Amino acid sequence: MPLPMATLVQKHPRSNGEHQPQPPTTDQYCDDAPHLFMQQQLRGQELLWEIIFGGVTSLTLRAVAVLGVPEILAQERPGASLSAAQIAARLPNCAHPNVDALDRILKYLAGRDVFQLAGSDEEPRYGLNHVSSWLVGNVGNLSPILFQQAHEVSLAAWNHLHEVVLESCEAFERGIGKPIFSYAREHPDYSRIINDSMACSSKCVMAALLKHYKEFNSLTSLVDVGGGVGTALSEIVFVYPHLKAINFDQPHVVATAPRIYGVEHVGGDMFDSVPSADGVFIKNTLMDWDDEKCIKVLKNCYKALPKNGKIMIVETIVKFCKKNGFANKMAQIADISMLAYTNGGRGRSEKQWQNLLAATGFTEIKIFELPLPVSIIEASAK
Ligand SMILES: C[S@@+](CC[C@H](N)C(=O)[O-])C[C@H]1O[C@@H](n2cnc3c(N)ncnc32)[C@H](O)[C@@H]1O
Repeated sequence: MPLPMATLVQKHPRSNGEHQPQPPTTDQYCDDAPHLFMQQQLRGQELLWEIIFGGVTSLTLRAVAVLGVPEILAQERPGASLSAAQIAARLPNCAHPNVDALDRILKYLAGRDVFQLAGSDEEPRYGLNHVSSWLVGNVGNLSPILFQQAHEVSLAAWNHLHEVVLESCEAFERGIGKPIFSYAREHPDYSRIINDSMACSSKCVMAALLKHYKEFNSLTSLVDVGGGVGTALSEIVFVYPHLKAINFDQPHVVATAPRIYGVEHVGGDMFDSVPSADGVFIKNTLMDWDDEKCIKVLKNCYKALPKNGKIMIVETIVKFCKKNGFANKMAQIADISMLAYTNGGRGRSEKQWQNLLAATGFTEIKIFELPLPVSIIEASAK
């Protein structure tokens, strides 16, 4: 029978009489392990181990994605599994694969539910499951996001996160020597990695967004500000082919954008001006900047719109909420990433979005919650 909690809670030596939970001692692990408090403490330790090694999991996942293991498994019939030796034999351009290394990598990831594990201890086999199937295919393939996050340049920023607290500096700049967009301008490979990652996140959300949000129908022209290589607009014009669509981004970004039927790519600086249209779409772009810079961009968006023209901001909305649903977890991920990668970029709450829009003269602010990690914040020019 479990002991009452009180017997498992010791008094903290420095507390003023309040009872504080104490970490279990080694002998308690043996004697009291079945008890609720001990189980909770042990779960806490297990969770902490997983968190400490979270970076290892992410980089191990990168290794299998670089090797092309998910694609090899995807060529099998659904539910099938292969041994490490069978997978290794199919690795492109690899005459002498280290099968033991591959087996250990796959075993680690299968232990974290990334791959389906079949066979036996002696002859394990691996297959795609509901997690790793998100690393293959054209739609919903998250590999580009993995490649950006696990890239050595991105990782360098995280080692300086504490300095942001101490010195209000920019972690990415501390790690790499330049702010992220300046670095990307000078390093086409890293710029492509960012663009691919953003295109991937657009592909993930646009189909569902278009299913639930129909306001594009009332517009004749639309500009996507900071539209990257035009992935979101390509999905919009596919559903609304009547739209005159402009994909607006930095010149070096639009220079690498593919031709998209019905979309004109325009290079420029959103801090100077934004091309005119009767609707402005701006997705995951304002989160890169502090309030002052956002107000500058929003003012330019306002100028680009006619009277009653609409702005549609697609972003995560940060909520104060202890219980983490998918949307809130993604909002927290976006916020912490902006803290590491940008100077002043952030996730924003409903109130913070309303304040930003009101500060630039927009009215009729409406928030559309979607069954997605992002919401649409819509407003009109007066
Ligand atoms: C986080 S990405 C979002 C891309 C796209 N909207 C999406 O959701 O996939 C931010 C975009 O803002 C663009 N950007 C940054 N500074 C800019 C500027 N001064 N003028 C125009 N675009 C800019 C970047 O090149 C990048 O494509």
